[in-house]
Amino acid sequence: MKKKGLPVRFELLAFLFVSHMAHTANGDVSYSIPEEMKRGSVIGNIAKDLGLDVNRLSTRKARIDTEGNRKRFCEVNLNTGELAVAERIDREALCGKKASCVIKQDLVLENPLESYRINMNVQDINDNSPLFKKDLIKLEITESTVKGARFLLEEAHDADIGTNSVKNYNLMQNEYFELAVTAKTTGRMYGELLLQRELDREQQQSVSLILTAVDGGTPPRSGTVAIHVTVLDANDNAPVFSQAVYKVSLPENSPVDTVVVTVSATDADEGHNGEITYEFEHVSENDLTIFSLDSTNGKISVRGSLDYEDNSLFELPIQATDGLGMVSYATVFIEIIDVNDNAPMLLIKSLNSPVPENASPGTEVGIINVQDRDSANNGQVRCSIQQNAPFKLVPSIKNYYSLVTTGELDRELVSDYNITITATDEGYPPLSSSKNIYFIVADVNDNPPVFEEQNYRAHVQENNKPGSSICSVSATDPDWRQNGTVVYSLSPSDVNGVPVSSFLSINGDTGVIHAVKSFDFEQLKSFKVLVLARDNGSPPLCSNVTVSVLISDENDNTPQILYPSPDGNSYMTEMVPKAAQAGSLVSKVIAVDADSGQNAWLTYHIIKASDPGLFTIGVHSGEIRTQRDLSESDSMKQNIIVSVRDNGQSSLSATCALYLLISDNLAEVPELKDMSHDESSSKLTFYLIIALVSVSTFFMTFIIIILAVRFCRRRKPRLLFDGAVAIPSAYLPPNYADVEGAGTLRSAYNYDAYLTTGSRTSDFKFVRSYNEGTLTADMTLKKPHSVENILDGLCNENSQV
Ligand SMILES: *[C@@H]1O[C@H](CO)[C@@H](O)[C@H](O)[C@H]1NC(C)=O
Ligand SMILES: *[C@@H]1O[C@H](CO)[C@@H](O)[C@H](O)[C@H]1NC(C)=O
Ligand SMILES: *[C@@H]1O[C@H](CO)[C@@H](O)[C@H](O)[C@H]1NC(C)=O
Repeated sequence: MKKKGLPVRFELLAFLFVSHMAHTANGDVSYSIPEEMKRGSVIGNIAKDLGLDVNRLSTRKARIDTEGNRKRFCEVNLNTGELAVAERIDREALCGKKASCVIKQDLVLENPLESYRINMNVQDINDNSPLFKKDLIKLEITESTVKGARFLLEEAHDADIGTNSVKNYNLMQNEYFELAVTAKTTGRMYGELLLQRELDREQQQSVSLILTAVDGGTPPRSGTVAIHVTVLDANDNAPVFSQAVYKVSLPENSPVDTVVVTVSATDADEGHNGEITYEFEHVSENDLTIFSLDSTNGKISVRGSLDYEDNSLFELPIQATDGLGMVSYATVFIEIIDVNDNAPMLLIKSLNSPVPENASPGTEVGIINVQDRDSANNGQVRCSIQQNAPFKLVPSIKNYYSLVTTGELDRELVSDYNITITATDEGYPPLSSSKNIYFIVADVNDNPPVFEEQNYRAHVQENNKPGSSICSVSATDPDWRQNGTVVYSLSPSDVNGVPVSSFLSINGDTGVIHAVKSFDFEQLKSFKVLVLARDNGSPPLCSNVTVSVLISDENDNTPQILYPSPDGNSYMTEMVPKAAQAGSLVSKVIAVDADSGQNAWLTYHIIKASDPGLFTIGVHSGEIRTQRDLSESDSMKQNIIVSVRDNGQSSLSATCALYLLISDNLAEVPELKDMSHDESSSKLTFYLIIALVSVSTFFMTFIIIILAVRFCRRRKPRLLFDGAVAIPSAYLPPNYADVEGAGTLRSAYNYDAYLTTGSRTSDFKFVRSYNEGTLTADMTLKKPHSVENILDGLCNENSQV
């Protein structure tokens, strides 16, 4: 208040002083007044100052006149003579910048007419503030402007003059500029912005300031203006990549146009200075075919086909350039990720085909190589082989496998193998490929021919045609070609001392066996030959089979009557006791048949008799018995003709005649002479002697037989003597022969005793060995025999039954 109070008082004093300074000089009066006084404010007492009579002012019509049409700024109070302000006095409006401002007014009086000049010296007061022309000062300063640069600022205007005009400028506190205020020669003050710190558009694009102009009045007045400094860009920034190194990974199967990565660089500059273009720096031609770079947006995309197996890592240097050519660099590493895109490859490096079938298990038959271009698990390959073949894959060095056999091969079972080998990698999803390996199994002569049957039996009717086929054998050999070609042959051997080849021949190719000659059942009933089957391998394999040739009988032998002698010259006459009762055995016809079986089954029939009712003959035994008691009336001499017939298909027969003498007395024998045969007594005696010898031989034989039977294990001693009639163990022909073991004809013949036992009369008729003259016709029976032969024969016979 004190400060304010003081200037007010000073103003008042000045006013008073100025007013009192009003001074009259040659009729003029001057007043010094401040501008902007209120209306009615008293400037001074003009009456007093001019020495006029106040009371006469009115009568003298005192008034203020102006020149021309100028404004009347003051009035005279006619009562007091005071001069007062009548109109607003604005120095700035009246005088502008003029240093002195005088308003001239005239005081006019009548009676007498007088005129006085009133000079009003208008003093400035600080009633105007400094003023800028605009509210805003716009400045554009390049960021590259160096420190200390000056920027002239518009002056502020103050309508007041002198000390009331602009005296100083103030600048708002800021970090970039200072204000330098300088006085012009005219005394006017102006300000300059002084760059204290370099601008950085990228940091601050504009600076706002407020400039204040202050005048020198009391109190001072001020005016402000805003300064807007726009920082202009300079290309002072290189592009900056968001990353110095870009690392990306990319699956190798990425299609064309896949965006790999977007590199981005920023440039702090703006406009053209900040426009960035991207390009590859030094990249190989090949890489350029694979990747493309969009120069405007920095997108790196796939252009060609990727293959991990060719190149798994790309290093692409990239440069970013701004509008005025500032560059920066970054590197893009593109790692290609393996994708399981390669199936394994199977290569057969070697193959040993054909494989011999006798190759031992573990034999290497081939070498296989697997390859997979993928890496890691995608390139891990497992090989497998189809299950049902006797082969396996054995991993060998690196990616090699040996194909080896696991078991025996058999060409006859499986002659070739078409095995499939599959290789599968461990990628996801796994890829696989397979390959067929075709093997031939080579033949080895490992199979002998095998006959279709264990043994063969050939049935041949005797008297066959030489050359006729009797049977065929067949053997198979599963081996290949000549190893399986079968050739038949007869194993050389003897049959009864005769080479078998004189009996049989075999067709080497067909196995058909032919009889070389006609067989005689009565000589040879059966024999065995060994047939060989041999393949053509080298060495050949053989097998053999026994062929039993069984010769069957044909009814080709007529019964042979041993007793009585069939030749009709028999002197044998049977004695029949007169007292013989019905059923008495009187004689026996003994016949044999060289045939066998039915063909040797003999039946006896009386075909003619002198007294047909007297004798009967046993159909099978040949025993002749009385049919009734003899009587005196019966003729002493009786003739019977007996037919012996075999049972063959077309039966053969023989006949013989018997002479019977019914008599008790040998004395009646001479009567025999009367009988059909006149025999001399010497002859009769001869026969009797023969008979005696025969009987004694029989007894000897009998005893020996008993001993022999005991000796020979007593197996079936009853055979000979049990029952009424000992039936011969077989109908053995005199030339009976058998092939035994080695096939040799047995040297001992069989002798059968045709004994008639059990007859009521206990007569024994013993027929001696056949060969003793009775069968001289048979050329085969020439060999004399001994008791040992007989025993031997019997033993054999018994043991054989
Ligand atoms: C093996 O078998 C495959 C099919 O399984 C077939 O395509 C190929 O022809 C066969 N190879 C031979 C030699 O038989
Ligand atoms: C027959 O077998 C032999 C080995 O025993 C063999 O060397 C030969 O090649 C085979 N022949 C044929 C035609 O397979
Ligand atoms: C016949 O075969 C048997 C085995 O089957 C053999 O022991 C014998 O020696 C063979 N005989 C001939 C003559 O080959």
